Amino acid sequence: MSSLPVRKFDAIVVGAGGAGMRASLQLAEAGLSVAVLSKVFPTRSHTVAAQGGIGASLGNMSEDSWLWHMYDTIKGSDWLGDQDAIEYMCKMAPRVVYELEHFGMPFDRNADGTIYQRPFGGHSANFGEKSIQRSCAAADRTGHAMLHTLYQRNVRARTQFFVEWMALDLIRDADGDVLGVCALEIETGEVMILQAKATLFATGGGGRIFAASTNAFINTGDGLGMAARAGVPLEDLEFWQFHPTGVAGAGILITEAVRGEGGILLNSDGERFMERYAPNLKDLASRDVVSRSMDQEIKEGRGCGPHKDYVLLKLDHLGPEVIMKRLPGIRDIAIKFANVDPIKEPIPVVPTLHYQMGGIPANIHGQVVAPRDGDPNAVIEGFYAIGECACVSVHGANRLGTNSLLDLLVFGRAAGNFIVDQQLARRTHKPLPPGAAESALARLARLDAATSGEQVAAVAHDLRQTMQAHCGVYRNQQLLSEGVAQIAAIEERVKRISIKDKSKTFNTARVEALELDNLIEAAKATVVSAEARRESRGAHARSDYPARDDVAWLKHTLWYRDGNRLDYKPVNLKPLSVDAFPPKPRTY
Ligand code: FUM
Repeated sequence: MSSLPVRKFDAIVVGAGGAGMRASLQLAEAGLSVAVLSKVFPTRSHTVAAQGGIGASLGNMSEDSWLWHMYDTIKGSDWLGDQDAIEYMCKMAPRVVYELEHFGMPFDRNADGTIYQRPFGGHSANFGEKSIQRSCAAADRTGHAMLHTLYQRNVRARTQFFVEWMALDLIRDADGDVLGVCALEIETGEVMILQAKATLFATGGGGRIFAASTNAFINTGDGLGMAARAGVPLEDLEFWQFHPTGVAGAGILITEAVRGEGGILLNSDGERFMERYAPNLKDLASRDVVSRSMDQEIKEGRGCGPHKDYVLLKLDHLGPEVIMKRLPGIRDIAIKFANVDPIKEPIPVVPTLHYQMGGIPANIHGQVVAPRDGDPNAVIEGFYAIGECACVSVHGANRLGTNSLLDLLVFGRAAGNFIVDQQLARRTHKPLPPGAAESALARLARLDAATSGEQVAAVAHDLRQTMQAHCGVYRNQQLLSEGVAQIAAIEERVKRISIKDKSKTFNTARVEALELDNLIEAAKATVVSAEARRESRGAHARSDYPARDDVAWLKHTLWYRDGNRLDYKPVNLKPLSVDAFPPKPRTY
């Protein structure tokens, strides 16, 4: 056993975004001792950047039902989503939104005092008939409002926050149970073991494996890296969502709520081209469809600007009043990052990496699932994953906008409740295994020992450019095979990185190097899984295999770090209480 300090809690939560703080709230309010670790101050977690809203069939604007929401989510997922989990999420949606309202969330209101809801891509009435207003919004700053609401509730519940701490590696014992994490205090360089009866990962996505991304710099796939190094497979990592409207050249998100409120996409001919690609829902088709259509327009020479490499998002016709009331943040972003005032001019936009559909395999209680001894659904005792780092799988091959905030509320709450029901306070801690911190300490020692080698920034840059070029909106065999080889070569460089600043005060260089260890695992899982999947489904679009192939590929991918190996498991097509929605062609 190392002589590191050990702190013991009933539960530790890694990540203080919406999922982490929704779970910690449930745990702390039930009286458990809870620690939440975060690389940044909690209200700076990436959930703060979510703009457009939370999907829930409240029916405040017109008739709605959870069954319609469920159907839209399954169709949006291109039938790769597990129908039991999707039913659970859509049924729970109104409840978690009303809970949030009671916590004090400042939702926008209708004249009658009910929560305002706006249309969003892929959400429809009556199984695809027409667009519906389902997104519960706080202007275009929904994530910001939500994160502050949850943080304040957690402070009241006495959740203990470890601010600017980075989890380095999981601790597993000889039975494979998870007993906590080894973590680094960023400011001082102190390393500590945080021991827990339940360890929840809520570490967010790894969108920073791509060069052009709406993701915060902190989104480096830390949960994916730690899980992979601990022998846990990663599920469906070939599926990454490109959001149609990132500011061209800057990558900042322009919410889909702009199109929900009536904004439209135009090509260089001034044509509303989505009418051709999605005659029914048009600009509000699902994101994979809109992003591919934009890519197509640009490839066929109808892009705008001097290099014809973006399209335009026009919203001036909404009028200043709607823009200032419903989309004030978008106006700020457009002025600052695109130098246009959308009250007068359209915003230049391109599809930009936004969301990771795959992740650490988990069930609806948040328990991490990994096949063992012939049981495909065996759980890892003591280990939970929720939010974007997890794959439940409610988003399948393509997530609908607003379902990410919903996912983290529903499954953060569910995991919290499940853990509370385990009566952890009455249980004793299992003893830590010998060498509990070995892998984390070895990673730190490697950085301290390296006297020459490549700089982190150069290697991370090449990783991101490779992923962008070889794993973008459209993929093919040649691009992907080259991507696999290039990422393997970059992995060798990652092993040889060196940091110039070895001082142990405010460990910026050290943290970036540690993050690179996680980025490389996410990148490997992505290219290897994508190269193998020879079909097009949702966000995984292969120009050489343009059709969806339900005979060969209606299955989830599992990538194992050990041997860069792939396995597969079936999609759950059986809902909990209603008839299944069988796969069918997907048109909008
Ligand atoms: O467009 C947006 O506001 C993003 C929402 C989401 O990803 O769910």
